[in-house]
Amino acid sequence: SAAPPPAVTDATDAVADGAGDVVAASRRRFRDHVNPSLSRLFAAHGMDRVFTRAEGCVLTTADGTEYLDLVAGYGAVSLGHNHPRVVGGLRAFLERGAPVFNQYISVPVQAGELAERLSALSPGRLERVFFSNSGAEAVEAALKVARAGTGRTRLVHADNSYHGKTMGALSVTGRRAHGRAFAPLLGDVVSVPYGDAGALAHVIEGAAAFVVEPVQGEGGVVLPPPGYLLEAQRLCRRAGAAFVLDEIQTGLGRTGTMFAAAHDGLEPDVVCLAKSLSGGLVPIAATLVRAGLWDAAYGSTDRAVLHSSTFGGGNLAAAVALAALDVVEEENLPERAGVTGARLREGLRAACAPYGFVREVRGIGLMNAIEFDGDFSGAAGALADELLTRLPGDLHGLVDWLPDDVRTAVRRAGEALESSLGDMLCLRFAAQLARDHRMLTFVTANSNRVLRIQPPLTLTARQADSFVAAVSGVCADLALHADTVIAPAAPLPALDRRTTR
Ligand SMILES: Cc1ncc(COP(=O)(O)O)c(C=O)c1O
Repeated sequence: SAAPPPAVTDATDAVADGAGDVVAASRRRFRDHVNPSLSRLFAAHGMDRVFTRAEGCVLTTADGTEYLDLVAGYGAVSLGHNHPRVVGGLRAFLERGAPVFNQYISVPVQAGELAERLSALSPGRLERVFFSNSGAEAVEAALKVARAGTGRTRLVHADNSYHGKTMGALSVTGRRAHGRAFAPLLGDVVSVPYGDAGALAHVIEGAAAFVVEPVQGEGGVVLPPPGYLLEAQRLCRRAGAAFVLDEIQTGLGRTGTMFAAAHDGLEPDVVCLAKSLSGGLVPIAATLVRAGLWDAAYGSTDRAVLHSSTFGGGNLAAAVALAALDVVEEENLPERAGVTGARLREGLRAACAPYGFVREVRGIGLMNAIEFDGDFSGAAGALADELLTRLPGDLHGLVDWLPDDVRTAVRRAGEALESSLGDMLCLRFAAQLARDHRMLTFVTANSNRVLRIQPPLTLTARQADSFVAAVSGVCADLALHADTVIAPAAPLPALDRRTTR
């Protein structure tokens, strides 16, 4: 007979038993039952940390080490972890004993209130709101309403875009590597260069929609040229195609305004929201649609639930989102993101300026990035020099005696090293920021040469400055070469945990 399963302790019990237990058990469970390949990658880059507490911009490991979180759930945790007002909203909802799921058999209270509020806030006052649970689902809903509402099929999107990993969202995602294994994706999909309105003009006639991010987040925090989005909107209007703005990463304050659309005075036909809609506490997404388009798609009784989702539009998620919106407005988070973001960029630009391996510091609000230079020519030579310093006395000249095949092998190894260094530098930078300074950053989904810096919008000026100092330290460290004296590491300062400026 089969052996009984091994006894496992619950992670929360293990915390009480000892930090080591929960760390080991969580790593093993993740490796065996969640994602073995990712588990190996995490371990290789020192990312197999186990956090057991979260508050504001700070994540704390099982052994009590605090990290400043500048990834913030890929932009979802915009109010900081476990914001007391949002947690309070969740508690209050549960204590009321209100129904969580009664949509589709009755009229929901909180979901209706949230729809009305989002509609009033939205650029161009989009009247209809469809709720779902993730960014990709919000994009699916956008693609479907555009096709059903226009009666057309062609979907246009930008190169290097990122809209999610369901089949529809992948079809309009401009990085083939994400979708190749799942081909064929949706048909009649056309991609154009981001920022090129002329290219869009060539393909938009007869299209159902143009789907675009106001700032390409996973593409590497790419800002479009001035006037591009407004021109894209004009082209869509003229062609009768839906202008779909994916604000899943930019929305609700991240770029310094409530919606990124406000920077250009855009009035899109569809806006997608997710990530920060509940402050990152519970899954919720929304697709906001102009009434005319929605009605054309679903405005008859036989089409009323042509698109639906069991968990979409639940009251619990809506109640949390309402509390999160209160916080965004009352704490002036869009404005604060603008101010703190400008300070952060200014500091990072000054800190990175001396180093040739940083190509650019860029961003808007608290959506920022450091792009590393991919050119590591000279790395092989430096490696050879380093090796020669290991030879005693004047034996350096021995290198000239190396047989030809060894020289060729060394040169090939050097070239391979140079090309992979370009990709590895960014991850290495993130790993060193975490290891030496306890600051969490990561690469973007479409580009592993771009370090994403997307903290909660509640980041304080002091926290921003401490991050700049850390980046400066890692840059200096990376720039060290053989004849530079290595300063002993200074003791780490305590993290600033205040949640206000
Ligand atoms: C602009 C944009 N759209 C869509 C998505 C997909 O969202 P989700 O991962 O919640 O499906 C993302 C996620 O990073 C995104 O940045």
